[in-house]
Amino acid sequence: MPDGHPDHSFPDAQREAVYRVIAERRDVRQGFRPDPVPADVLRRVLAAAHQAPSVGLSQPWDFVVITDRARREQIAALARGHRDQFAAGLPGARARAFDRLKIESILDTPLNIVVTCDRTRGGRHTLGRHVQPQTADFSSVLAVANLWLAARAEGLGVGWVSFFDERELAAHLGLPAHVEVIAYLCLGYVTGFASEPELVTAGWARRRPVSWAVHAEEFGRRGLPGEEPVDPLADVIAAIAPPDAAAMTAAAERQDRMTKPRGSLGVLEEVSVRLAGLAGACPAPLPEPACVAVFAADHGVHAQGVTPWPQEVTAQMVANFLAGGAVVNAFAAQAGAEVTVVDVGVAGSLEPVPGLLPRKIAPGTADFTQGPAMTREQATAALTVGLEIARDLVAAGNRCLVTGDMGIANTTASAALICAFTGADPAEATGRGTGIDAATYARKVDVVCRGLARHRPDPADPVGVLAAFGGFEHAALAGFILGAAALRVPVILDGVISGAAALAAAALAPDVTAACFAGHRSVEPGHALALDHLGLSPLVDLGLRLGEGTGALLALPLIQSAARALRDVATFDSAGVTEKQ
Ligand SMILES: Cc1cc2nc3c(=O)[nH]c(=O)nc-3n(C[C@H](O)[C@H](O)[C@H](O)COP(=O)(O)O)c2cc1C
Repeated sequence: MPDGHPDHSFPDAQREAVYRVIAERRDVRQGFRPDPVPADVLRRVLAAAHQAPSVGLSQPWDFVVITDRARREQIAALARGHRDQFAAGLPGARARAFDRLKIESILDTPLNIVVTCDRTRGGRHTLGRHVQPQTADFSSVLAVANLWLAARAEGLGVGWVSFFDERELAAHLGLPAHVEVIAYLCLGYVTGFASEPELVTAGWARRRPVSWAVHAEEFGRRGLPGEEPVDPLADVIAAIAPPDAAAMTAAAERQDRMTKPRGSLGVLEEVSVRLAGLAGACPAPLPEPACVAVFAADHGVHAQGVTPWPQEVTAQMVANFLAGGAVVNAFAAQAGAEVTVVDVGVAGSLEPVPGLLPRKIAPGTADFTQGPAMTREQATAALTVGLEIARDLVAAGNRCLVTGDMGIANTTASAALICAFTGADPAEATGRGTGIDAATYARKVDVVCRGLARHRPDPADPVGVLAAFGGFEHAALAGFILGAAALRVPVILDGVISGAAALAAAALAPDVTAACFAGHRSVEPGHALALDHLGLSPLVDLGLRLGEGTGALLALPLIQSAARALRDVATFDSAGVTEKQ
């Protein structure tokens, strides 16, 4: 409180009560008791809702109170239909986890309340709604928030159900055409309030720290007031630590006691030990659900004629990934993984569609034979995009990340990066990419040589190396790999593009490799050089050279099987099986 001004804050106990009700409000779906809610309690809760702020004081809400069982049964049937439809579209591990979740308590609660919005209320000149019609809906949502908090203070649980087609539900409730459903709420007394959101307890999603959500002055300058600004890249690098030796020892010992001859799971034993070391727990959590992030970008070096494919193919393939028509989609569907596509620098503009994360740094890099592919600021921005996507995907409940890429000419940039980080000869590191003739191959090697001669990259300056050669997908993938490692979540690397990106990540934080699993070995010669440098052995070697994340997805079930064996297989002592003499 500034000196000399009256203190309008609440007394301590009341202030604490306000923060307490905010912290202890829960979306409740379990443990409802059947006892009715007394009318006076309900009136208090509704009066609290009715005190919400609203645009131009339009008070666009109404509250439909439903207790009739037959009506609730009909509404529950509507929600079940949409629940089943949603479940049918989920990838494998997500679908199994969703099956275990309860998403509504329409019949378990004695009372349902529908909060509506009349966007026409208040007439034409409603203050503030003229430019933003959606502020009417926001106002009704604030009424929901008030109701939810007041109900918590009264000891009433509230669960919000949004599995409805809005007009279908509106018709059931007899809403006029100009009135919309904002929220369907289930209310009742409960046996208890959980301290964490149910979706956290169920492992469906995680909480994001408040420091990720607060920006100073401009979007992207994250940090809490009075604290140092957050530097996401520096934070992630600082969070990366070596694997947990005790968990690794415990995993290796458990492998030896499992009901199988010692060492008989070959490389998978080592995989399970590494997973335990990364998680700091034996057994490690199963690496599922998994999500492949396909980072797409274009390359200025395309102008040097290093590939027969036109640059437009990058954007066209992005559309194909989003339509579900590419090999990555088929392999992801088979492995039960989700596909996310990130536009980190595609030359053309892309239509916004579900599944596409628009994070374009620039419409393609510059030609690295003429100058740096990008600025250092752009390289850092792309690294940050990648690490933020990693942590968002982990916050969304993923426990295994998979790298994917798309970018016509990106094997040329990869070769240059691999030479810069490993010191390899361009003739050794450069491959034929999608398939090129001898003349094009010679040109490609020459392009890599010229790029290296021009930029004289310093492997001790990984951001500078990324800036010199690009592409945006390499830098974003490096950030993605670092982000996974900082959260101690395994990341399965795909082919040569991911290998080049992993070299940049390892140059920034050497312990990052503890989180990395080499999904496969590509036929691109630079890939083997990168994996050797990283000290990683590929799990699959099938002569693939497609990218997109395809090779990594093939390794996903191997890694999951290794984790499951360590967790589920009986030991000689527990199963009463006699060991070899
Ligand atoms: C707009 C909105 C819609 C929601 N819809 C559902 C739903 O259909 N089913 C469900 O189980 N939970 C639903 N929830 C509850 C959220 O899952 C829940 O608020 C979130 O997990 C955080 O948990 P907490 O409310 O206990 O803090 C919804 C919440 C909001 C804000």
